[in-house]
Amino acid sequence: MANIIGLMAARNAMAGVDLRQEGVDAMPQPLRFYASDQVHTCHHKAMNLLGLGKKSLCKIPSDDAFRMDMGALKAQIRADCDQGIKPACVIATAGTTNTGSIDDLSAIADLCAAEGLWMHIDGCIGALIVLAPRHRHLVTGIARADSLALDLHKGLQAPFDVGCTLVRDRRQHRITFAEDAEYLQKMSRGIAAAEFLHDYSLDTTRGFRALKIWMMIKEHGAQKFGRLIDQGIAQAQYLTGLIADQPLLDQMAPTVIDIVCFRFNPGGRDEAALRELNTEIMLRMQETGVAAVSDTTVKGRHCLRVAICNHRTRRMDLDLLVQEVLRIGSDLLATPIAAESGGR
Ligand SMILES: Cc1ncc(COP(=O)(O)O)c(C=O)c1O
Repeated sequence: MANIIGLMAARNAMAGVDLRQEGVDAMPQPLRFYASDQVHTCHHKAMNLLGLGKKSLCKIPSDDAFRMDMGALKAQIRADCDQGIKPACVIATAGTTNTGSIDDLSAIADLCAAEGLWMHIDGCIGALIVLAPRHRHLVTGIARADSLALDLHKGLQAPFDVGCTLVRDRRQHRITFAEDAEYLQKMSRGIAAAEFLHDYSLDTTRGFRALKIWMMIKEHGAQKFGRLIDQGIAQAQYLTGLIADQPLLDQMAPTVIDIVCFRFNPGGRDEAALRELNTEIMLRMQETGVAAVSDTTVKGRHCLRVAICNHRTRRMDLDLLVQEVLRIGSDLLATPIAAESGGR
């Protein structure tokens, strides 16, 4: 939802018509949004909900570091202009779901400024790295976004759910959502004296999600959360070192933040066999409760995905994780995977 709010403001700002009144049929040109091929699927849902269709979200290839390829982005923008399509918005990701990669936010901000495009940042995973003294340089440029989505239930480890959207242009934010209702009139005094939050998003009735965040920051202070984010990234680097020391483990993507992608690879197996092997390793770790590891596929290669998102994680937990991957992997080499395996 946080991304949808930002993208809706972007769509309405860039449509070239009063979209709230006239609807998408009245747009003089089709709009195009751009994101890397690592973008989260919530942006597909956003395009669907905004009436633009998934075809309006152009996926730009990512480079070897899983960052949006800037050359390909520029070429696509030029090609779309030539075809009468209106480039509207670049969606940069600060912390991709697959690998934790962070797009070049400054370069994208420069491009958006030069081309007159809206810059939206999906910072659901990584925006709060701004709090982390040792790693905040990773998100340099984040403050230049026109809109930014962040998930405080991820970065601050708050109870679900508390997504948040920041939109730079307050007027644009308001005119995207505000409606005049005879039963919701602002007063200078009384209970309707404050700003109506329903003028800035889709829902009218809403929970007081901000309360738990306010209490957490009051209790612990923002600096502590910054230190914990630094700690998670340092632990991911430690895990990366453990993987590098093990010939049977392959690192599958650079470790940038607190996400580590790797797999058990005894050699001599094709992709399908490695997928089956690693899926079984993941399932056994989940079922025995050793670790809640997930999986993903990066550039066509299946792998285990470790997201260190609990501040109680210790290095010894990561030692155990690696030992267990190796132990289960070796067991599986000795004993074929049973037919009822949960693999896909
Ligand atoms: C990068 C990114 N964007 C958006 C989302 C969607 O956020 P939510 O799960 O809060 O709906 C996620 C979820 O993991 C994500 O990783």
